[in-house]
Amino acid sequence: MDSMAVFLSLLFSSFFSILIFFLFRSSSFALRKLRLPPGNLGLPFVGETLQLISAYKTENPEPFIDERVARFGTLFTTHVFGEPTVFSADSETNRFILQNEGKLFESSYPSSISNLLGRHSLLLMRGSLHKRMHSLTMSFANSSIIRDHLLIDIDRLVRLNLESWSDRVFLMEEAKKITFELTLKQLMSFDPCEWTESLRKEYVLVIEGFFTIPLPFFSTTYRRAIQARTKVAEALSLVVRRRRGESERGERKNDMLEALLDGDGGGGGFSDEEIVDFLVALLVAGYETTSTIMTLAVKFLTETPLALAQLTEEHDEIRAKKGESEPLTWNDYKSMPFTQCVVNETLRVANIISGVFRRAMTDVNIEGYTIPKGWKVFVSFRAVHLDHDHFKDARSFNPWRWQSNSGATSSGNVFTPFGGGPRRCPGYELARVELSVFLHHLVTRFSWVPAEEDKLVFFPTTRTQKRYPINVQRRNVSNPCKE
Ligand code: HEM
Ligand SMILES: *[C@@H]1O[C@H](CO)[C@@H](O)[C@H](O)[C@H]1NC(C)=O
Ligand SMILES: *[C@@H]1O[C@H](CO)[C@@H](O)[C@H](O)[C@H]1NC(C)=O
Repeated sequence: MDSMAVFLSLLFSSFFSILIFFLFRSSSFALRKLRLPPGNLGLPFVGETLQLISAYKTENPEPFIDERVARFGTLFTTHVFGEPTVFSADSETNRFILQNEGKLFESSYPSSISNLLGRHSLLLMRGSLHKRMHSLTMSFANSSIIRDHLLIDIDRLVRLNLESWSDRVFLMEEAKKITFELTLKQLMSFDPCEWTESLRKEYVLVIEGFFTIPLPFFSTTYRRAIQARTKVAEALSLVVRRRRGESERGERKNDMLEALLDGDGGGGGFSDEEIVDFLVALLVAGYETTSTIMTLAVKFLTETPLALAQLTEEHDEIRAKKGESEPLTWNDYKSMPFTQCVVNETLRVANIISGVFRRAMTDVNIEGYTIPKGWKVFVSFRAVHLDHDHFKDARSFNPWRWQSNSGATSSGNVFTPFGGGPRRCPGYELARVELSVFLHHLVTRFSWVPAEEDKLVFFPTTRTQKRYPINVQRRNVSNPCKE
């Protein structure tokens, strides 16, 4: 019943775009000699959507890309989610597309997603407003801010969470809780309490709405997400209003909300609604991504005992020089070379954001082909990160590769887990620090074994099927196997 409904509406939504595609293709060949990137449009109506989904629901989705790259090259046309889409698996092309954000291409989200994000979300902004808000976000999460202000809370909240662990934990759930608490603290100075936990419950419903692809408007999950978004926005509005009052009375806090209330970055203040949308965007962007990377780092380490042993040794050494509950400092963070290899390798292999969608703002000529104005483009990071030409034995987890020649066999910008150009993730350093601190406290406090076999899948998002349950056991931290 359900899959029939999916099929039928894909059929209808795709019908017109395919029709337009063929009309367009024949007329433009005749009139303007456009050369579209080669490719296969798949079945009538649904295109290659079903192949894509079934590939990404397995542990090894690579054949979907490999087969097409082998037949058509690294720039090919496919037809997914109701639209013909040009797929780029080439690092140079990817760079070109990302760098030309706002000039030749612009980011593009389906309306179901923009409704959940809110009109004033950073992810949807364009032009000079986007530039200003992007740099405001950067200046809230840059390395000196993390070093001087955020690190201490990251350390404290991670520790606090791990203290409650015993027996079996679902790692993905715990990582989400930690990430949410960290973000609320960073954005508006809230410590975990009943209020933050009830906000999180609503928020989880909002997030579910993002993944009701391909049929959001038919789904109850989506409707529930829209309702939950209203509740989250109301709760945050109250906070913003109260803080605005406090700020006017001179009671100032050192957080993102304060910067927004001040209207930092030039160009005047923001309305409450703008601030709320902005906060929601940051909560969305950092939540699923950071918690998934925490979970997958642990999964890959568990499956690579030598790497786990080396990582543990690195962190035991750092801990041995400190008191048991002394917080990590920036210097400690900077003396975790192997951890940084593990972080990069996890980002490379897991590809939490496997790529980003853009839309051509004009006809764009590239690699001898033309991408017609209005067409969708998918910039695949995954295809590049798992390409043997760039990374030797690219499909296995090997953190040691980062110890020499920075991991990639070819030079240049082939490693882009955080994107590039004007929309490059402003949270890239924050995510790295949060993951490193999390790994530090995890390996110095616990040993663990997987409680069940769990599989990695990539649709609708990168995740493990069972939220990665593990059985944890406390290590003797005061005496970390030194003598
Ligand atoms: C492992 C964790 C993370 C990964 C892999 C990741 C990845 C990305 C990528 C690939 C983009 C580019 C999207 C595009 O070009 O359309 C992006 C954008 C963004 N990220 Fe992250 N991110 C992570 C964590 C975070 C965190 C912790 C924050 C919190 C500050 C954050 C905030 C943002 C924001 C606000 C944007 C939108 C930027 C814009 O459109 O100008 N991200 N992220
Ligand atoms: C980080 O942002 C602050 C403003 O919030 C700024 O003063 C500082 O120079 C920035 N640091 C770096 C390393 O960009
Ligand atoms: C990890 O990747 C970043 C690029 O995102 C790079 O600058 C850094 O040198 C890499 N770290 C290691 C240890 O190779």
